[in-house]
Amino acid sequence: MIQFKNVSKEYKRGRETVCALTEVSFQVPKGNMALLCGASGSGKTTLINLCAGLASPSNGEIHVGGNPVHAMRQAERAAMRAQGVAVVFQLFHLSPYLTALENVLLPSLVVSVPDAKERALQLIEQLGVTHRIGHRPGEMSAGERQRCALARALLAQPKVILADEPTGNLDDESATLVLEMLNSCRAAGATILLVSHHAAESVKPDMVFRLQKGRLAGMQAKNGAPL
Ligand SMILES: Nc1ncnc2c1ncn2[C@@H]1O[C@H](COP(=O)(O)OP(=O)(O)OP(=O)(O)O)[C@@H](O)[C@H]1O
Ligand SMILES: [Mg+2]
Repeated sequence: MIQFKNVSKEYKRGRETVCALTEVSFQVPKGNMALLCGASGSGKTTLINLCAGLASPSNGEIHVGGNPVHAMRQAERAAMRAQGVAVVFQLFHLSPYLTALENVLLPSLVVSVPDAKERALQLIEQLGVTHRIGHRPGEMSAGERQRCALARALLAQPKVILADEPTGNLDDESATLVLEMLNSCRAAGATILLVSHHAAESVKPDMVFRLQKGRLAGMQAKNGAPL
């Protein structure tokens, strides 16, 4: 389960303060998928980063899979991510020095993943990038890098998946593949927070959250009813 209680995030730049999120509260029950939408700059990536423990809230509480993320030290947050909270970054964050396969295998250096190489190769094949396993990110297209980043996130079968625009660079066919994969993770019990501008029809999210200038401007259940 993911829960935000009155979460605010301010970035300070010299004398200027940017309020990226203001008093955001919501919850995503275990095994549900929430779709997070909002204009560019509305705070989506900030929210994902806070949820992953990659940044700290200025105020409020964040609970992810039973972990009080807002109150945890950096090392505890890193352990939480390694043990079951995966992030698909908007800008991929693949290691430029490793091949696609090595990047996908990275989580298995930190936690035990049974048959890691077979699982990595299977994910890569499902995502249609088998022909690039020996390539480094600089030798791959943005869409290929994006699919590698997703394969890496899914390698250790995370319980919570935070996916920031995982279809942003993909054609319709690859985007469908990615969304189908997230759907099967949900069917297997994962809790998912998905940032996307155009996924509502294909993924049938359990709930939709809309951010407007850092505030939650709307929350809807699957049937369109307000939450
Ligand atoms: N490190 C930072 N320092 C100062 N301001 C920041 C920082 N990171 C983000 N912001 C500001 O916070 C706001 C929210 O940014 P965020 O990246 O969360 O938006 P977003 O909804 O993910 O946008 P996009 O759809 O373009 O990815 C923006 O106005 C941005 O300029
Ligand atoms: Mg973003």
